[in-house]
Amino acid sequence: MPVPTPPALPSAAVLLLLAGLAGAAPAVAGDLAAGRQKAQACRACHGLDGIATMPMAPNIAGNNELYLRNQLEAFRSGKRTNEMMSVVAKGLSDQDIADLAAWYGAIEIEVTLPDTQ
Ligand code: HEC
Repeated sequence: MPVPTPPALPSAAVLLLLAGLAGAAPAVAGDLAAGRQKAQACRACHGLDGIATMPMAPNIAGNNELYLRNQLEAFRSGKRTNEMMSVVAKGLSDQDIADLAAWYGAIEIEVTLPDTQ
C-alpha cells in the first residue's frame, strides 16, 4: 500500500498573504486625538466628520481603518493617483496615515435606505 504523501507546506509567501488578509496588526498604531488634529488638513474636502464638502470628494467617515490606510499609502506611493490626493498624501508620514485612518475609521455613521415604494 502506498504511503500517503504529506500535504505540501504552504510557502512563506502564502502565509504572509494570509496574514495580510486576516488583517495582521499594522506596524504603527493610530492615535485618535492626533488624527482629529491632523484631519484639519482634510476638512476642506472631506469634512472633519468625514462627510464630503464637495461633489468631487468621497465621504470617508466610518470606512474600514485598514482600507483608509491602504488608500493613503497607495496615494503616497503613486500606486493610486489623483491630482488632489497625490499632493496631499505626499507629505504624510506613516504615523500621520495611522492617526488619520484611526480618526476617520472611528466615526460612526448611520444609513437610511431609499424608499422604493
Ligand atoms: C483638495 C481636496 C482634498 C483634500 C484637502 C483631501 N482630499 Fe482626500 N480625496 C479627495 C478627492 C477628490 C478624492 C477622490 C480621489 C479619486 O477619485 O481617486 C479623495 C480620496 C481620498 C481617499 C480615498 C477614499 C476612497 O473611498 O477610496 C481617502 C482615504 C482620502 N481622500 C483621505 C484624505 C485625508 C486623510 C486627507 C487629509 C490629510 C485628505 N484626503 C485631503 C480630495 C481631497
